[in-house]
Amino acid sequence: MLDPEKIFLDKVYEEIKIEPKDWMPDQYRKTLIRQISQHAHSEIVGMLPEANWITRAPTLRRKATLIAKVQDEAGHGLYLYSAAETLNITRDEMLDQLHSGKAKYSSIFNYPTLTWADMGAIGWLVDGAAIMNQVPLCRCSYGPYARAMIRICKEESFHQRQGFEILLTLSKGTEAQRKMAQDAIDRWWWPSIMMFGPNDDASPHSAQSMAWKIKRFSNDELRQKFIDMCAEQVKILRLTLPDEKLKWNEKRNHFDFGEINWKEFWNVVNGNGPCNKERLAARTKAHKDGAWVREAAAAHAEKRKSRAQKAA
Ligand code: 3HC
Repeated sequence: MLDPEKIFLDKVYEEIKIEPKDWMPDQYRKTLIRQISQHAHSEIVGMLPEANWITRAPTLRRKATLIAKVQDEAGHGLYLYSAAETLNITRDEMLDQLHSGKAKYSSIFNYPTLTWADMGAIGWLVDGAAIMNQVPLCRCSYGPYARAMIRICKEESFHQRQGFEILLTLSKGTEAQRKMAQDAIDRWWWPSIMMFGPNDDASPHSAQSMAWKIKRFSNDELRQKFIDMCAEQVKILRLTLPDEKLKWNEKRNHFDFGEINWKEFWNVVNGNGPCNKERLAARTKAHKDGAWVREAAAAHAEKRKSRAQKAA
């Protein structure tokens, strides 16, 4: 009888997707539940900073675009919660973990959105970083996660384009608009590159996640690719990135960049960022206010089920 672990590892090695009913190491299941549920939480909490500007968008077109984007993020969260549920964790358990502060969500969403230009900086930088990190996840060894990511990545590209276009429009506007765009980039740049997680030598999960082909690139590799891309794109905006050490290094064939403030990162991850409390309060209130919808849907489902049983 073949050892199930060997079958599992052969499948990962042969690039055969691991499916919910397949045998998998407990740790593989645990780390997927951890990553996918936190990814889902990030999508849902990530709706809050941008929702703050829907009623204040400068034109109907911008408002419609922002509503579509925020709505997409909700859908991304639902795909990812469904992918996580295939690993035997319930939606309620995951939401309890979020609301109790036990589960993480991306640090980036704990920063305030102070001006309209932040909508551009979030689309260009935050969604840009998300795409950099999520495209490789389309090739994740766990089937449901990889398939959810394929659909999500298609929508993320629209998110990044609309953000860059907001900044491009502002950069071609009045001096005040240019200043607003530059201020937003200054505030969102460093938190965006922190999104990729700690340096590889400080990442407890990366080595195993890469061995199991959950992660295809390390945190630092993806961060560097993102920095190299933005350092070129910012030239089109005729604006700057807030890092005087950002400089092309011929030998490395990459941009060198300044020191990341890891103290700030861990401070935000551990719940002490500018908006952590506000974000969690908003999510717990929304969950509480939505209880009647869940109860009504469950009662309706129960009624349909008993009607179907009577008819059978
Ligand atoms: N924010 C909060 N916590 C973070 C973090 C961040 N930016 N980066 C790392 N961490 C946490 C990890 O969750 C882990 O804590 P845990 O053990 O309690 O889960 C710890 O720091 C160590 O980090 P590792 O790098 O060892 O952990 P991972 O191997 O899980 O790598 C990750 C972190 C790169 C974020 C990885 O989990 C990942 O790729 N997740 C999927 C993508 C994702 O969640 N993106 C978040 C943004 S979603 C988004 O942007 C929506 C878009 O529409 C705007």
